[in-house]
Amino acid sequence: MFGVTLAGGAGRMRAPKMTQNISGNVVTALKRANRVMIVTGAGISAESGIPTFRGADGLWRNFKPEELATPQAFQRQPHTVWEWYDWRRGLCAQAQPNPAHRVVAAMERFYHHFLLVTQNVDGLHARAGSRRMVEAHGSVWRGQCLQCGATLPLEVTPLKELPPRHEGCGGMLRPAVVWFGESYEPAVLQQMFAAAEEAQLVLVVGTSGGVSLPMDLVTQARQGGATIIEINSERSAVSRLAHERLEGKAGEILPELWHCAQLAYLVDEVRARAEQKGGRLLVGIAGPPGAGKSRLAKALAAELGPHVLVAMDGFHFNNARLEALGLRGRKGAPETFDRLAFELAVRAMRLAQEPVRLPIYSRETHEPVPEAFMAGQTTPFVIIEGNYLLHWPEVRDALDMRIYLDCDPALARKNLIARHQRGGATEEEAIRKFEQNDRLNRETIQATRGAAELQIWRDAAGWTVTRSDRQG
Ligand code: OAD
Repeated sequence: MFGVTLAGGAGRMRAPKMTQNISGNVVTALKRANRVMIVTGAGISAESGIPTFRGADGLWRNFKPEELATPQAFQRQPHTVWEWYDWRRGLCAQAQPNPAHRVVAAMERFYHHFLLVTQNVDGLHARAGSRRMVEAHGSVWRGQCLQCGATLPLEVTPLKELPPRHEGCGGMLRPAVVWFGESYEPAVLQQMFAAAEEAQLVLVVGTSGGVSLPMDLVTQARQGGATIIEINSERSAVSRLAHERLEGKAGEILPELWHCAQLAYLVDEVRARAEQKGGRLLVGIAGPPGAGKSRLAKALAAELGPHVLVAMDGFHFNNARLEALGLRGRKGAPETFDRLAFELAVRAMRLAQEPVRLPIYSRETHEPVPEAFMAGQTTPFVIIEGNYLLHWPEVRDALDMRIYLDCDPALARKNLIARHQRGGATEEEAIRKFEQNDRLNRETIQATRGAAELQIWRDAAGWTVTRSDRQG
């Protein structure tokens, strides 16, 4: 009964530029949900340069679906249909996943129960890292043999022969896509509608609702009590079923939304932990160099309120900054590391005009750490970031909450080399420093990673708390 039918009508990562106010309701829905479904359409790939079907430059303006996207059309003119698909395959091969695809892949890390249903056949979600996914309309990167029924990968573009043939049995291949008038696989249908029924939150991104699938899934999810959020550059057939609409480009809205939702989730976690600990919390952030520990510490501090101390280790102060502080050449290293790092941190924070208190810990006096950190009673949150600070077992053990910030290694390397270069290093020096730093940090990193209560992954989609092991 559910088939494809035409319905009537129809990078360096920065905190994203805020394009619109995302309502607290939307952020709360993303933060709280555990069972999430995302439904995407051609609009999510528009910013990758792949044409949509409907709208001003849509494919169905210039091509007729009944001549290219039905089994009858293929029977009549397989060569023409394949030419059209091979042209589209070429477009898809040239395209790159955009930030919206990346955020969708990141969401999969966060939500325990998650399903992406895409109507797109371009393969960009998979290339962005999505795995818990149904390609409801198939993929242009696969062919199906009309003789033996086998589904085969078809990765080369342009194809050598049109129509392509199955090497094994010699049968003609058709694109492994779902055409108008054809039915969805029963197992796929079952999977999609089960996810819709259970979903607490459904994001519908870049689809007109021109075929019935998104409407049917959203209707089912609504009946089950899900919150429906639509992201689309225009109103669509889905709009009237959405509780919230975010109008604009998916590649801009999704990163912004995810940044807000992840930060809000982290802040909640920190506050909840602080409450358990009597209102005061010592948080440590460790992770590979270049992962953005200080960026995360500052973002958290800004959200937590005015009385937050952020102590950072000295290593990320570049030479220019050290020069400005009159401290060049006195940088701490793990074995000689002492009060200096704290002083540096505090002085730097003063320069940045942020409120700070100086913890009184010194290696010379062996003042016990917990008491030292308790000294500033008016500071409810102390965030320590940096592997050197956490290198001290005393500091590490005194933490109430450990965060491990992991990062896409290529992104970490790029960030770190750029930072050294901003500090005046040549590219070669920057790479050497990066490698040295990496080696020095490895031991600490491993120790902290194991002990961390919160693991965060950072990639081009921003920060994502890894919590797919969470049940519920
Ligand atoms: P459509 O082309 O019908 O709709 C694309 C939607 O994306 C529209 O609602 C646009 O407003 C929206 N849009 C465009 N650019 C956007 C952007 N940058 N950010 C957010 N939204 C944007 O594509 P689908 O709904 O996917 O099926 O079409 C569904 C099915 O109809 C396709 O899978 C295909 C087609 O015929 C088959 O071929 C079987």
